Amino acid sequence: MELEDINTVAVLGAGNMGHGIAEVAAMAGYDVNMRDIKDEFVQNGYEQIEWSLSKLAEKDRLTQKEADAALDRVTPLVAMEEAVADADFVVEAVPEQMEIKKDVYEELESVAPDHAIFATNTSSLSVSELAEVTERPERFCGMHFFNPPVRMQLVEVISGAQTAEETLDLTEALAEEFGKTPVRVHKDSPGFIVNRILVPLMNEACWLVDQEEATIETVDSTAKYGLGLPMGAFELGDQVGNDVSYHVLEYMHEVLGEAYEPAALLEEKVENEELGKKTGTGFYDYE
Ligand code: CAA
Repeated sequence: MELEDINTVAVLGAGNMGHGIAEVAAMAGYDVNMRDIKDEFVQNGYEQIEWSLSKLAEKDRLTQKEADAALDRVTPLVAMEEAVADADFVVEAVPEQMEIKKDVYEELESVAPDHAIFATNTSSLSVSELAEVTERPERFCGMHFFNPPVRMQLVEVISGAQTAEETLDLTEALAEEFGKTPVRVHKDSPGFIVNRILVPLMNEACWLVDQEEATIETVDSTAKYGLGLPMGAFELGDQVGNDVSYHVLEYMHEVLGEAYEPAALLEEKVENEELGKKTGTGFYDYE
């Protein structure tokens, strides 16, 4: 398949990442089927795209006409079969748990067209292990966007053990069509490149607070004004979702060892469902 043959992109999952990826693909002119398991989830994702596009228009990053046209290209759906029947490229952005993703791939494989490429937006899980659930490991790779996808430039394109070179080339070309800059990740190891650096930083920030060596506010001030990061570690945690950081760390802990043990503070936030901006409370309050 060539880049020109990609017309319809299906995005599975309408959460923080899924709706953002759907928005990016629609802005690039693709027809997008955005699917989630409940109508309420998919409608919420659609409303977030609408909000984001009007924000971008307000800030002159695109015209209102372009924003309206992009929104028109997004079809929110619940039925998997309908979402992927005419898909040339499928980006999966469902929760960061191996078993959930494997179940989705089993269902997807049974209804997706043979030619379609499957790309997982996993933040850390093994691309090779996920690919094994399907009958197309050579047409399966990682395509990892960053939050918020509409504003973040990078996309990690990750090779699984059996990914064909053409799949990686095509995925990189598509990322460029989306206006992004791809970086190829050759080793399918937990957290790939970005999260291998970032998530331990966020965890260490939690340990500092757990051990009463600093407060959330002082950690975030030093991150912004000392390290020059655009957001503090806790602000970013709330933006990414504390459940996402926690699942990434749990997996890194399991595969890479002790150094990645999730801090109690992070665990507590997840247990209390204080997941960040998406739940209205995380390390900070947003209501
Ligand atoms: N769509 C449209 N507008 C958005 C938006 C979105 N999705 N998200 C935020 N905005 C808006 C805000 O509402 C705000 O609007 P107002 O000014 O009207 O309040 C505006 O954007 C802020 O944008 P600015 O350009 O003025 O602000 P900024 O220069 O701080 O940029 C940012 C915002 C690009 C998000 C920047 O803060 C940043 O780069 N933050 C770090 C993000 C980051 O590191 N992401 C990676 C996380 S790791 C990850 O995602 C991987 C993983 O697997 C866990």
